[in-house]
Amino acid sequence: MAPTPDDAALLAGRRARIMEAMGGGVLLLAAAPERVRTGDVLYPYRQDSDFDYVTGFPEPEAVAVIAPDAPQRYLLFVRPRDPERELWVGHRAGPEGAVEQYGADAAHALDDLEKVLAPLLEKAPHVYHTVLRDDPLAGRLLGVIRRAQAGRPRAGSGPTAIREPGEILHEMRLHKDAGELARIRHAIAIACEAHREAMRSARPGMLEYELEALIDFTFRRRGASGPAYPSIVASGPNATVLHYTSNDRPLGAEELILIDAGAEQAGYCADVTRTWPTGKRYSAPQRDLYEAVLAAQAAGIAAVCPGVTLEAVHTATLRVLVEALVRLGLLEGSVDEVIEKDSYRRFYMHRTSHWLGRDVHDVGRYGIDGAPRPLEPGMVFTVEPGLYIADGGVPEAFRGIGIRIEDDVLVTATGHEVLSAAAPKGVAEIEALRAETA
Ligand code: GLY
Ligand code: MN
Ligand code: MN
Repeated sequence: MAPTPDDAALLAGRRARIMEAMGGGVLLLAAAPERVRTGDVLYPYRQDSDFDYVTGFPEPEAVAVIAPDAPQRYLLFVRPRDPERELWVGHRAGPEGAVEQYGADAAHALDDLEKVLAPLLEKAPHVYHTVLRDDPLAGRLLGVIRRAQAGRPRAGSGPTAIREPGEILHEMRLHKDAGELARIRHAIAIACEAHREAMRSARPGMLEYELEALIDFTFRRRGASGPAYPSIVASGPNATVLHYTSNDRPLGAEELILIDAGAEQAGYCADVTRTWPTGKRYSAPQRDLYEAVLAAQAAGIAAVCPGVTLEAVHTATLRVLVEALVRLGLLEGSVDEVIEKDSYRRFYMHRTSHWLGRDVHDVGRYGIDGAPRPLEPGMVFTVEPGLYIADGGVPEAFRGIGIRIEDDVLVTATGHEVLSAAAPKGVAEIEALRAETA
């Protein structure tokens, strides 16, 4: 679907900022390739996050060119119209549509890529093009750049450097604009509804994938494109496997279930985890561990405000978690010793936060000049401590328990906002919901 006038203005504003940041040269971006699932069946198409952020153009086999010093500063190369193919697989904008609906100064058929780009690159002092991607379109772009470089002795000009577009784009993507925040909020609202549905519906004996199906159904019914990542529906000991996605075990009675599921809506992701009893209530040991993770998460979230670093959020979270592990007899030694020696890693082996946006593990540097970067308003990230007690050597009652509580947090001018607060996580609130069902 072509961008609305509001979105078109946002996209044009982004391109103007990119041009300012480039210091001349030419920036090249390729659409995501289509991928074969089996035989002649493709995976559902997902546009490349950077390409979509800059163009809003939803089709594969497309290249965007930003050239601040050229007479036409924004070019699109796209698939030509083809009534026969369009009858089978749907509408193409074609070069005319790329100009009229997507705001390109000029557009060409993708077949003309090399012919049109070559003279542009011959004059460019540097080119922004990612060498991290390896697909046919990225390869074609690299070929044109190579030829322009090889022609330098003859032409007397041509690119001497290939720069990573992420240097510009990923810093921009890290600071969410109003349109992006609206989409993230929407994705998260849908995810929270799906978590509530699961809490209302789970019964011992049900298969994990039945809950996964309910979550997917809730996502799609509310207009999300689907899950932002494969949903983790992990009952009992499966919750100690960080990226468990088999989702094929029957729910036992009196155990915990960990669900890590987030919708993708209009290209933006939610990432939310809740852990709750398959029965009506948490048992005493389950509750002890759950409240430890909850308190740790609260400490991490409370630390969030402009100027603070994700490192500090992690440290605040970790301290409270380790205090509980020592108090409950799961770890020996003082809190400082446990943190110093990393002995908590047996039970908590991942970091507390990651950026969130178009990609679930979103782009943007975590450090600048070797130091953790200070948070700024408009940044969005997760706070997701957990405990995973897979092995022995701990009191019997704690074995096989996995817990994670994950919220999505926005840095505001004065502090923070928890965007996923609509998914219940307090013990009383969850037990009240479970009492209606189990
Ligand atoms: N769902 C992936 C993560 O929590 O990072
Ligand atoms: Mn996450
Ligand atoms: Mn997650």
